Amino acid sequence: AQQRSKISVIGTGYLGATHAACMAELGFEVLGLDVDTVKIDSLSSGRVPFYEPGLEEVLSRNLANGRLRFTTDYREVAEFADVHFICVGTPQRADSNAADLTYVNAAIDALAPLLDRPAVVIGKSTVPVGTAAVAAARIADLAPAGAQVELGWSPEFLREGFGVEDTLRPNRIVIGAAPGSQRVEAAMREVSRQQIEQGIPFLVTDLQTAELVKVSANAFLATKISFINAMAEVSEVAGADVIKLAKALSYDDRIGGKFLGPGLGFGGGCLPKDIRAFMARADELGVEPALSFLREVDAINQRRRARTIDIARGLIGGSFAGRTVAVLGAAFKPNSDDIRDSPALDVASTISSLGAAVTVYDPEALENARRAHPDLGYAHSMLEAVRDAEVVLLLTEWAEFRDADPDELAKMVRERKIVDGRNALDPEHWRARGWTYRALGRP
Ligand code: UDX
Repeated sequence: AQQRSKISVIGTGYLGATHAACMAELGFEVLGLDVDTVKIDSLSSGRVPFYEPGLEEVLSRNLANGRLRFTTDYREVAEFADVHFICVGTPQRADSNAADLTYVNAAIDALAPLLDRPAVVIGKSTVPVGTAAVAAARIADLAPAGAQVELGWSPEFLREGFGVEDTLRPNRIVIGAAPGSQRVEAAMREVSRQQIEQGIPFLVTDLQTAELVKVSANAFLATKISFINAMAEVSEVAGADVIKLAKALSYDDRIGGKFLGPGLGFGGGCLPKDIRAFMARADELGVEPALSFLREVDAINQRRRARTIDIARGLIGGSFAGRTVAVLGAAFKPNSDDIRDSPALDVASTISSLGAAVTVYDPEALENARRAHPDLGYAHSMLEAVRDAEVVLLLTEWAEFRDADPDELAKMVRERKIVDGRNALDPEHWRARGWTYRALGRP
């Protein structure tokens, strides 16, 4: 049998750790690298340093069978692998909306000078269009093997909470290669062989298109959420019900029902920063008007947070000063402990700054929340969080909150008032149990 490529994964954060474990699960020998020794120590001992259902099993299994290892040494990676995946973060810059490419550049600058034999480097990080072409030139400059090292770009579409599933069975694989590239497509076909055999679409593009697929997919998803949230704004003043509206829209299969969930809006480490970086890039490219609608998408999304606060304030008589407020949810979405740009925590900390005593509960994100917002109060259960509350806000739709028993909560709270920021509860049921129930976009 032909020798299989060996794989390295550079950057073992959310994307990289998942990618490394899943490539090993597919049967490849994988070496993961990070400059953070704490992460590497944790992963090497089988512990995933974040919450991702199912990942720890895949990690442990492949550590045990010897296919997966981790290191902090670029030399080891360069010697070991034929295909290098770059999975480092591209956060929003502190001083602007643009993407911070420090980690991508650092990874390339550390790896390329060590590549002295044919190799393929495949970027997976979300980058502004045009980054890959610059990176390709840089690799050609730095790598001792010169043109025998090629760069491709293959965006990642995984959702937190479904990382393993989305990596093993993505809904498409996109690989961008430079004109005249010899090795990129073949390398990507080899590492994706099992997925291609399962019929998963495999699309080959130029570098720029591959980069754009990712940001435009996220821009579309953000737009869809803000679209239905804009309809919620209209519904609120017109006396309509956005949940019924969304349902009726969803039967049109040109529209579809996914990402049409009205509520507090999107957060997380991807959608908000990606649409902002996309706008910043369009500006640099001189096509700012092409994406000016994304400014509205962002603004609609922010207004939902303000609206949620207003509804809660209205329920308790117009001021938060000295009031007791319970917040259910801290993660930016359920099944995640990620609090990056979390709408729930944004709302909670604004309410706290307006003078309320806010107690937050989240099944997985409490520790992260406490670290980022030491100003808020925290409870270790839903019932403890709502003790003496004058209003309860449901801001992340964990199953535990969806299934909450209104009678049980009623025994703990001071006032039976709830703002359902995620349209997660049945209004009839809660009202029947004596609660004042308010939601976004519903009468
Ligand atoms: C997203 C993309 O889905 C994924 O393809 C990409 O690779 C990374 O960004 P993720 O950030 O994990 O993934 O979360 P996602 O499940 O997409 O949710 C994003 C946000 O939108 C969450 O805050 C969620 O609460 C919100 N959302 C989602 C809504 O408000 N309404 C919806 O109908 C759907």
